[in-house]
Amino acid sequence: MQLTVVDHPLARARLSRMRDERTDNAAFRAALRELTQMLVYEATRELTVAEETIRTPVVETTGFRLAAPPLLVPVLRAGLGMADTAHGMLPESQMGFVGLARNEETFQPEAYMASLPESLVDRHVFVLDPMLATGGSLVHCCRLLTARGATQITVLCALAAPEGIQRLEESGLPLRVFTASVDEGLNENAYIVPGLGDAGDRQFGSV
Ligand code: PRP
Ligand code: URA
Repeated sequence: MQLTVVDHPLARARLSRMRDERTDNAAFRAALRELTQMLVYEATRELTVAEETIRTPVVETTGFRLAAPPLLVPVLRAGLGMADTAHGMLPESQMGFVGLARNEETFQPEAYMASLPESLVDRHVFVLDPMLATGGSLVHCCRLLTARGATQITVLCALAAPEGIQRLEESGLPLRVFTASVDEGLNENAYIVPGLGDAGDRQFGSV
C-alpha cells in the first residue's frame, strides 16, 4: 500500500476548520469540498494522459486529456460531501455508490447499498470517504471493488488513524491512500483523536 500525506498550508487550514467544534454544518461542508480539491489534485498527478491535436485561435498544437478517467465511489453518507467536488474536477468520470454505517457498539461496518458497475476490470477506482478510523469500512468497500475485478484503487480521506492505515496495509488490497493527516490514534469509542467527530453528523446533522 502506498500512503501519501497531503501536508500543505491550505490543507492544514481547511482541516483545522473541520476539526473546530464551533464550525457549523455549512462551513464544515465547504471546508471538506476545498480539502477534497487538494486531495484530488495530488491523487491525479500521475494519471495517464492521451495526446490529441487541437487548434488554438493561432496555430495547431498538441492538447491533452485523461486517457482513462477513474470511477468515483463515495462511501455514504460522509463521502457524499466529497463527491461533487471530485466529479467537478473529473467531469468525464462515472460514479458508483457504496452505503455503509458503522455499528457504534461493535465498530463493524454494516452495508446497506452498493451501486457499482458489474465489472471493474482495468478500471482505476477512486474511493471517497473523509474518515479512515479502524479501517473496517474501507476494507469492506474495497473488497466489494476487488470482487468486481478492480486492481487499482485510490482512497481519498481527510483524516486517518494509524490503526486504520495498518489494517489497510495488512489487507493486502491494491491501494494508494491520500490523506491530509495521520492523527494520533483511536479512543475507546473508535473515534479518531484529535479527529473531528462524526464526519456524517458534522455535514448533515445527527440521525
Ligand atoms: C464513518 C466514516 C467512515 C467510517 C470510518 O461513517 O465516514 O465510513 O465511519 O470508520 P471505520 O474506519 O472505523 O470503519 P459512518 O459509519 O459513521 O456512517 P455515516 O457516513 O453515515 O455517518
Ligand atoms: N467515523 C467518524 O465519522 N469519525 C471518527 O472519528 C471515526 C469514525
